[in-house]
Amino acid sequence: MIRSVFAVLCFILLHIGAQAFEILPGDSLNHQEITEQAILNATVQACRSLAQTEGTSFNNPAQPFTAEGVAASCSASQSSKAFRQAITSIKLRNIRVDIRYALKPSFHFDEEEFVQGRRIITDGMVAVKADNRMGNYETAREKLGEIMHPLQDFYSHSNWVELGNTLPNSNLIKAETSIGNIADQNRATCRSCVGNDCTNNILEDIIAGQILTSGYFGLLPFVSTKPPGKCSHGGSVDQTSKIEPTGGINKDSFQSSHGHLHTQAANLAVAATSQLLEDIRLAAGDLPFLQMVGISRGSSKALCFVTDTSKSMSDDIEVVKTVTSTIINIEVGTENEPSVYILVPFNDPGFGPVIRTTDATLFKDIVNHLTTTGGGDVEEMSLSGLQLALTSAPFNSEIFLFTDAPAKDKDLKNTVIALIEQTQTVVNFMITDSVVTNRRRRRNSNLLQTRAISESDAQLYRDLAQASGGQAIVVTKAELPVAAATIVQSVSSSLVTLLQASRDPGQTDSLTFIVDETVTNPTVYITGRSLTFTLTSPTGVTQQSTDSTGSLITSSETVGNFITVRLLKQVGQWAIRMVSNNPYTLRVVGESSVDFLFDFVEPSQGPFGGFDALDTRPKAGASGTLLVTLSGSDSAAVTEVALVESTKGSEETLGVVSQGSGNFLVQVDVMPTVEFVVRVKGRVQGSATDFQRQSPTNFRASNLTLTANSDSILTAGTMTSVPFTVASTRADENITIRATNSRNLDSTFPTVLLVESGNSTNGTVTLLAPLSIPSGSDVILTIVAETPDGSDTNYIVLRFSVVNSLNDFTQPACQLLSMQSGCVENCSLSAWVASVRVTDGDSGAGVERVSLIQGTGVFNTSLEAGNENVTLVSYVASCCAPVMQLLVVDRVGNVGTCQFTARVSGSAAASLSFFLCLIIMGFGQLLLSGFMK
Ligand SMILES: *[C@@H]1O[C@H](CO)[C@@H](O)[C@H](O)[C@H]1NC(C)=O
Ligand SMILES: *[C@@H]1O[C@H](CO)[C@@H](O)[C@H](O)[C@H]1NC(C)=O
Ligand SMILES: *[C@@H]1O[C@H](CO)[C@@H](O)[C@H](O)[C@H]1NC(C)=O
Ligand SMILES: *[C@@H]1O[C@H](CO)[C@@H](O)[C@H](O)[C@H]1NC(C)=O
Ligand SMILES: *[C@@H]1O[C@H](CO)[C@@H](O)[C@H](O)[C@H]1NC(C)=O
Ligand SMILES: *[C@@H]1O[C@H](CO)[C@@H](O)[C@H](O)[C@H]1NC(C)=O
Repeated sequence: MIRSVFAVLCFILLHIGAQAFEILPGDSLNHQEITEQAILNATVQACRSLAQTEGTSFNNPAQPFTAEGVAASCSASQSSKAFRQAITSIKLRNIRVDIRYALKPSFHFDEEEFVQGRRIITDGMVAVKADNRMGNYETAREKLGEIMHPLQDFYSHSNWVELGNTLPNSNLIKAETSIGNIADQNRATCRSCVGNDCTNNILEDIIAGQILTSGYFGLLPFVSTKPPGKCSHGGSVDQTSKIEPTGGINKDSFQSSHGHLHTQAANLAVAATSQLLEDIRLAAGDLPFLQMVGISRGSSKALCFVTDTSKSMSDDIEVVKTVTSTIINIEVGTENEPSVYILVPFNDPGFGPVIRTTDATLFKDIVNHLTTTGGGDVEEMSLSGLQLALTSAPFNSEIFLFTDAPAKDKDLKNTVIALIEQTQTVVNFMITDSVVTNRRRRRNSNLLQTRAISESDAQLYRDLAQASGGQAIVVTKAELPVAAATIVQSVSSSLVTLLQASRDPGQTDSLTFIVDETVTNPTVYITGRSLTFTLTSPTGVTQQSTDSTGSLITSSETVGNFITVRLLKQVGQWAIRMVSNNPYTLRVVGESSVDFLFDFVEPSQGPFGGFDALDTRPKAGASGTLLVTLSGSDSAAVTEVALVESTKGSEETLGVVSQGSGNFLVQVDVMPTVEFVVRVKGRVQGSATDFQRQSPTNFRASNLTLTANSDSILTAGTMTSVPFTVASTRADENITIRATNSRNLDSTFPTVLLVESGNSTNGTVTLLAPLSIPSGSDVILTIVAETPDGSDTNYIVLRFSVVNSLNDFTQPACQLLSMQSGCVENCSLSAWVASVRVTDGDSGAGVERVSLIQGTGVFNTSLEAGNENVTLVSYVASCCAPVMQLLVVDRVGNVGTCQFTARVSGSAAASLSFFLCLIIMGFGQLLLSGFMK
């Protein structure tokens, strides 16, 4: 009871104010809304720019922008879930800054820490751009959220708005420029407020002199670091605002000291965040930028194979080749085309490297060249390969692992489970049994070993499949092509899970699922042996699995332990009664645009409320919170959220509070002590029935707590320490620690930590990224803590990006080599020619890309002879288009633009002769086609 009261109190606390723009919805614009508006704005710009480049039309979405509306206008409605996921991930990192760095002034532009605050933004931009270059969008999103926070706070916490500015301070996203006229340390900037009126507390000479200042902030009474005469942040939490000069200047909400300027501040924060995103887009290019925000051309799904390449696998690999070709042949160019293709080979002792590409033809080619080698002994490095795939694939992916051998690296089990839970990835095992291997051995009469997978070895794969909501399919090599047909449906951009359950040991059980109007192709996948089931449709019609003449099952196929049943589409609640004494899994899927995603979050213990995304398992026996987001419809609402015990089916329904924009906070009084899945019911406005979706991933709470807080940038060549803390509500125990990273970097960590009951113990993981690692590579560190009896495990998953230089902030520069113009007053039939040299300075990384962003002329680039770092541009255009603008981007993503305008000069005769010269030089046809509009 008392715990329950606390839970409710915490839940209420989630809704109260914050130091920065608020975290949660209210009248005022908060960090979440500012961030979402800017992402939507920048995404529209990217889609418009892409359409322009491709010569297609683009229609603006209706105002105000919504994620669904923007995805639709980008012709990417099928990306809506991935788009929502990217937005949520960026938002959660943004609001984390108020929790993790609440009292660091530079993260909030407090205390006149302008230079330090800007440094956080520009260093972070280098990392984001590097991540995007390497296609590491998940890592880019996290950093992006973190640097948006100070950028947005600047407009609330400084006097930029009070100085009369109506545009963002673009120097905050440029290193090495002047941020403005920053107040001297000793200069007084504020006077005390009179009564509660703080509208005029900034000193007149500060305003008149256009001098930049920001408020001081402190939680402790009588311990103020505020120098005499400086402004305070203000508000009831800020104790410095009670010291002369009293009052504050923040514009976090309408209720703040300068709340009358809240709207201006929030709008500038949106515009500044849009500007930051635009710079990131120009550096990345439109398509990669859109992928960063989760919008892709085809499906948002990856096609991801992890395959054993040892000798006995040649039949299986033929199947991988066939499936790859099938999917690529039918899906390329459709909305089901995978957004990325991933292949991880493994055998023993080798595994990897990860092959990740967006190029379907290249991928097909690579798969077609897969060969089998090695694999002398019985076991293979399957979990190492799987770990690589889990750290390379986008969140919510589906992975297929092909093998005929047990895992040699079983000790990675908990690491793999950690990654499955954190990325909510489904892992399917395609296990081929030994029968065919034996036959092959006889036929080939070479010394292949018999590779039967024993029951206990198969159990490991079953456990991992079950944890992820996937299947462990065991078939003969001859049956594999039939089983592999399931892979084709898995890449469908709209695949949703209606129900997922498993029973081990097997037991007779009745389960229900809802097929709503939006669902097509309802399909039941079952793994298990010697089982039967009975289906009951919404109208009460039943059909036994043994009955091949019924009307509910449109097709059914069994290979090995794998049964695929396609159902008649009938809207309403279905039931399936499973009968078996053997372990089984059941997964009911369909295709629908409506789905949900969710994160475990934790109410902040800090002064400002809010919630923080969990990178770990939630606390067992304690209250918990979920942030649920619906996708696929602007008008859908959650009607019920339940945690369902995975193995028994008992469930607990939870309280739901809408947060606006399709987001819902869900309160769990007590986290279950056993494995569970998350089930969401909701209703699309105007629909007659609820929809029901389920997370495929099985989650667990833990009595161990892991926390870690470190910078997310690894500097190549420098050792990085990642301090972490383990706490436990159990008895005193020696906890086993395992730290694994996705790039096999040199690393040290304590293998055992003594954790006393009710106390915490600190440890440190060190990571050393060698200089040879390219900038923008991501490193995913998984720290696993296990109790001695193995009954309880927790983990923390941390993403880092490697950056190997933080010193090139210079944008490329243009130099006009020559301009010849025959332009006269009457522009038609006259032309101009320019030649431009683009360089990146002496210490720059070199020019990577030059493109024409304004102008309709003929544009060509070439490298300067003998210098790959210099790009030469030649341009010829009609005088009716006298302006040309170039976008120049260097190899670390510094973005510049250069503009040139044709001069009007010369006589009509000179112009005509110039034009004739151009025709003689071979530009004639291009020019004429441009002129004769
Ligand atoms: C949208 O982005 C553009 C480009 O960065 C910016 O100029 C504009 O102010 C933004 N719109 C809003 C409403 O902030
Ligand atoms: C956590 O501790 C409680 C009480 O001791 C116990 O009932 C529960 O099973 C434990 N949970 C896990 C995941 O070990
Ligand atoms: C932890 O390990 C140390 C060293 O092996 C041992 O002395 C100690 O008794 C262990 N503590 C507990 C609580 O198991
Ligand atoms: C917690 O651990 C620290 C470090 O080992 C120790 O100094 C402290 O006394 C412990 N506290 C309790 C309550 O056991
Ligand atoms: C453990 O780390 C935390 C956070 O870094 C620190 O506050 C605490 O003092 C450390 N405890 C010990 C016993 O070193
Ligand atoms: C181009 O720039 C790179 C990076 O600064 C440098 O290593 C290389 O030597 C330069 N090439 C030439 C030809 O100057």
